[in-house]
Amino acid sequence: MMKNNVVIRGLGRYAPEKVLTNADLEKIVETSDEWIVTRTGIKERHIVEEGQFTSDLGTEAAKMALADAGMDADEITHIIVGTFTPDHLVPSCACIIEKKLGIKNKVAFDIAAACTGFIYSLEMGRAMLALHPDAKILCIGAEMVTHRVNFTDRTTCVLFGDGAGAAVLTNDGEGPELLDVKLATDGNLGSLLTVSGGGSASTYKPGETIRDDYFIQLQGREVFKHAVRSMATICEEILEANGLTKKNVDVLLPHQANWRIIDAVGRKFDIAPEKVYSNIDRFGNTSAASVPLALSEAVETGFIKDGDLVMLTAFGGGFTWGSALLKF
Ligand code: ACO
Repeated sequence: MMKNNVVIRGLGRYAPEKVLTNADLEKIVETSDEWIVTRTGIKERHIVEEGQFTSDLGTEAAKMALADAGMDADEITHIIVGTFTPDHLVPSCACIIEKKLGIKNKVAFDIAAACTGFIYSLEMGRAMLALHPDAKILCIGAEMVTHRVNFTDRTTCVLFGDGAGAAVLTNDGEGPELLDVKLATDGNLGSLLTVSGGGSASTYKPGETIRDDYFIQLQGREVFKHAVRSMATICEEILEANGLTKKNVDVLLPHQANWRIIDAVGRKFDIAPEKVYSNIDRFGNTSAASVPLALSEAVETGFIKDGDLVMLTAFGGGFTWGSALLKF
């Protein structure tokens, strides 16, 4: 296993100002605040304004992370964006964020790992830093999930929100250390969570109306089951690989998909509920944005303290899943 001393120099986050509450959803589909809160823990989610796109959310989060790192945008050498809702297929969201940050001649690319996109970007960041020790990497998770949500389907539309989070990674300077990252996939289970319309296997002819496949489609119970099992397993694997145990973990910060999933992962981990970070009540599932958004918030509010060992974990379509260990 390769090791290097990667430091998180700065963190940032952004959520659109517009809020969609459960009461608002009650007016759109046959649902209730009681059902949504009981089944998911979500009370409200932030959604984009007209004319606001994934790259705008990612750019704002990046600016906050750069300010936190005390760095100018031009010092950045690489921009890696985890997203399944880029502004366009081409150019990539990372290229648009580069432009919106007012910089150029960097290395910028997107990663398609659904909700695990940010954890994947951390691993790509580490790899880049091993190849280019002087690199300064902007890892971003940014999503406008509501663009791919069918607001006539009550089984999915209550779950998601929009947002972004960002981290600046370097090999030097002050900040929490990124001790390790572990990733996994199982493409055999891909059909349980899909967004296929518009892809090369599900094309649209000019003038054709969009079909249900344009939107997120998921087998909720199956996804739930795999999410809990996979996140718990990969957290144990990364601890073992680093000679650590559950008892060493001060904060568990899982992907914010559903409060019951977060709770179940925490229980499997045998970690006290007050050590598990969650903001799902206010943001819903923001896919690749959820982990960095929550991490930035947890540091700023003092939930994560100096000296803490923090475990990040995520699970998403693909299936993809991963974990990361940070030492504050
Ligand atoms: N309001 C009211 N009733 C609803 C709603 C709603 N919004 N949605 C579903 N129901 C009904 C169903 O129709 C069903 O009714 P029935 O019993 O008459 O058939 C009943 O509630 C129970 O439905 P289930 O799907 O069995 O409910 P469940 O307890 O499994 O919860 C949920 C559904 C919340 C989707 C859960 O399975 C879950 O969170 N799964 C994980 C999904 C997820 O987070 N996916 C994203 C993963 S990350 C990524 O990559 C995007």
